[in-house]
Amino acid sequence: MEDRAITTSRGFINPQTSPDADSSVLQIWGGYPLQGHVKISGAKNSALAIIAGSLLCPEDCRIRNVPSLVDVTRMGQILLALGVKLDQNGDILDINASGIRQSQAPYELVSQLRASFFVIGPLLARLGVAQIPLPGGCTIGARPVELHVRGLQAMGADVQIEHGMVNAYVTGKNRKLKGAEIYLSYPSVGATETLMMAATLAEGETTIENAAQEPEVMDLANFCNSMGARIRGAGTNTITISGVTRLHSTDYSIIPDRVEAGTYLVAGAITHSELSLLSVVPDHLTAVIAKLREVGVQVVVEAANQLRIIPGQSIMATDIETLPYPGFPTDMQAQFMALLALSEGDSLITETVFENRLRHVAELNRMGADIRVKGNNAIVRGVPMLTGAPVVATDLRASAALVLAALAAKGKTTIQGLHHLDRGYEKLEEKLLSLGAKLQRVPESSVDADGRASNPDLLTSQSN
Ligand code: EPZ
Repeated sequence: MEDRAITTSRGFINPQTSPDADSSVLQIWGGYPLQGHVKISGAKNSALAIIAGSLLCPEDCRIRNVPSLVDVTRMGQILLALGVKLDQNGDILDINASGIRQSQAPYELVSQLRASFFVIGPLLARLGVAQIPLPGGCTIGARPVELHVRGLQAMGADVQIEHGMVNAYVTGKNRKLKGAEIYLSYPSVGATETLMMAATLAEGETTIENAAQEPEVMDLANFCNSMGARIRGAGTNTITISGVTRLHSTDYSIIPDRVEAGTYLVAGAITHSELSLLSVVPDHLTAVIAKLREVGVQVVVEAANQLRIIPGQSIMATDIETLPYPGFPTDMQAQFMALLALSEGDSLITETVFENRLRHVAELNRMGADIRVKGNNAIVRGVPMLTGAPVVATDLRASAALVLAALAAKGKTTIQGLHHLDRGYEKLEEKLLSLGAKLQRVPESSVDADGRASNPDLLTSQSN
């Protein structure tokens, strides 16, 4: 990597969200077919873990294919608060954590981004101490972190939780974490990533049994190994990490976002449009592709990193159960529900990963869907048509589901709660406009009382 002193912290002024994300709405006119191709951005859930992982390295790290998202910006701001130097140029992030000044992450930043808890492992590994506010729950669930905490305790950290703070420090003379045998009672993605990062600089060998197998876990392991870590088995349910004393600089590119890719596949299916997706990893979408084929949609691997979706005449019903990878991803549940709302027949969707991830049902029903919730099950009775309506996004993937439903609905949909959308979808409006969708983001105040629409046919990819 070029010898580039990272001297500034440019770029971390929230590039993605319009200042008034909370007071803007997205107006979408449905029924327009889509066409063309869309390039998939870097994976949000890889970027967040890998940015935290750069704290393990006392030298320059260059990370490429970083999506411009609010969550990524917030993670960068947390590193800045810890004394890390960052320089962002487009999708390239240069990080230097040689001068970490402190071990406490600021509450006002952590409270906005649960994933900031990922810094606890690297801070303990580098400094032997970390004070991280306990990440709150969110709309989809309580999101506890006891698996992270127990694993760190097994590695020799003393962890106390009081007054909403997780105070952790490594006992012992050299304040080094020790390798340990860890079994996760649930294959938690975050706990696997926290413990894998902590173990990279521990003394001895750590084994994580019943580890998460998500592609983002593999991506993080590959990133750490590119800095000289010794991680084996990532992507399987048993990961072994042999601790090393120091990591070195790297130049690493993040994998494409499989959830963004799955969302655009569903956009093609729900609007009966043929679309091509560029810069995807088909192997990361096996469960989603299998389900799309089950409902009558053709998905063709056009090249090593390109997919094409060719819809059938109609959407068949099917059942879905969300599971840890390689099962059907919970992050695609809401989007697939929007598709099945327009299927022929009844579908049963069971959400097994999070306890409260069916809140999009009420909003989809406002658009004419026929969905009933029983516990963590949603019974989706397909309807011939959805109709546009004012709806409110309740979480990141729910907001994506509402966008998809709006693209297929008859008439205009107005979506509030865009701060959810901005967390996880880079340039969503721009990408959809380029595919021929008719949508615009407008200040809420500009929407007439009767929701009178501007002429959707004027909305083209040249729209501002
Ligand atoms: C990651 O969250 C993702 N986020 C989530 O994506 C994703 O839905 C989830 O993994 C599952 O795939 C990031 O990577 C930043 P978990 P994480 O720990 O790590 C319970 C999105 O939309 N659990 O695998 O928090 C937990 O309550 C987001 O992009 C414990 O009980 O997920 C949940 O029910 C949403 N104790 C289940 O495990 C713990 O200590 C799965 O959580 C940890 C987790």
